[in-house]
Amino acid sequence: MKKKGESFMQIKEVAKQLNTTPRAIRFYEEKGLIAPKKDAENEYRYFSDTDVSRLSTILALREIGLPVKGIKKVLEDPDMTIKGYLHVQRSALVEQWLEIKDMIDTIDRMVECTDRDFYDLAQHLKKLKHLRKGWEDKWGFDSWAEDFDNHIKQEGHGFNVHQGYDEALERIAGTVHLDEHAVCADIGVGTGNLGAKFLAKGINVIGIDQSKKMLEICNKKHPEIEVRHGHFLALPLLDSQVDTVVSSYALHHLLDSEKLLALSEMTRVLKPNGQICIADLMFLDETHQAEVMDALRMEGNTEAIEAIEDEYYADRSLLVKWLEENQYKVETVMFNDILSMIYAKKVDKAGS
Ligand SMILES: C[S@@+](CC[C@H](N)C(=O)[O-])C[C@H]1O[C@@H](n2cnc3c(N)ncnc32)[C@H](O)[C@@H]1O
Repeated sequence: MKKKGESFMQIKEVAKQLNTTPRAIRFYEEKGLIAPKKDAENEYRYFSDTDVSRLSTILALREIGLPVKGIKKVLEDPDMTIKGYLHVQRSALVEQWLEIKDMIDTIDRMVECTDRDFYDLAQHLKKLKHLRKGWEDKWGFDSWAEDFDNHIKQEGHGFNVHQGYDEALERIAGTVHLDEHAVCADIGVGTGNLGAKFLAKGINVIGIDQSKKMLEICNKKHPEIEVRHGHFLALPLLDSQVDTVVSSYALHHLLDSEKLLALSEMTRVLKPNGQICIADLMFLDETHQAEVMDALRMEGNTEAIEAIEDEYYADRSLLVKWLEENQYKVETVMFNDILSMIYAKKVDKAGS
């Protein structure tokens, strides 16, 4: 059975080499993940180098929690790369981790207060779980990805949502000061136009997006950006991992309550004295929003009204209030009636 140049191992040897059991190996065989050659007479299995290497991949993927069905898909689906699957698995694990973290935080608070407060704390936890899981892409960003860079250059007839786009991205890059090799997370990275401005300064960029297609294009355009699949409400980053968080034209896809949770996620992943810089579609406050919308109605600009109502333009004053209440020093820039930038630097208790 042994061909010239090929080496085969038996199940016990393979199990020993891979620190597993013959039983586990037979299980993966039954599930159709591996198919070692079998001796017709004595039923002994013979594992080639390729079988052993495939088995070691299977064991590694099991160790990081991938289900057997998922592993089968990764190994058999030509459109699915292992790296792609790892990204998906990481964002799923981060979501689980954050859920557990929220529960532990709630327990810590329960321990410190009286039974009477338990109900409110539990309700808060319930709301948090709901918020983290509730966001849906109702715009279908995957289908925008291919044409996105052309789309931002197009002007609408009566409304140009991307007016000021280049200036805003440039302003973010000029405002955030980072040492070379610092780490910058660009959330809602899209095709990487903002992240690329930081790469050019020698800064390491992690681009996060909920759209896999956007990430693919970002990766093709800027392979140096480390792309991660994930979303604003469960960032695929560890606590205190990055020096700055930037974001452009992405936050207005979240409801107001989700936006505040997104700011708290940014705070979680920032190092002490970290910086947040966001340029996005927003009004200054409720009064400003009413004035702008009234003026558009008077003009009969239904294109603008429909475009604005299809998304969730922020109330800048609410974001600034949250940031100031959470020990940030905040500066703002208004580019036009619907576009602003918020720059926030975390200050320590001594105020520096
Ligand atoms: C209009 S594009 C902007 C892309 C890029 N930041 C730029 O300025 O060119 C919005 C991007 O935000 C992403 N996005 C929207 N909501 C998101 C969420 N909740 N979490 C992560 N990404 C999100 C979309 O998938 C899309 O790639």
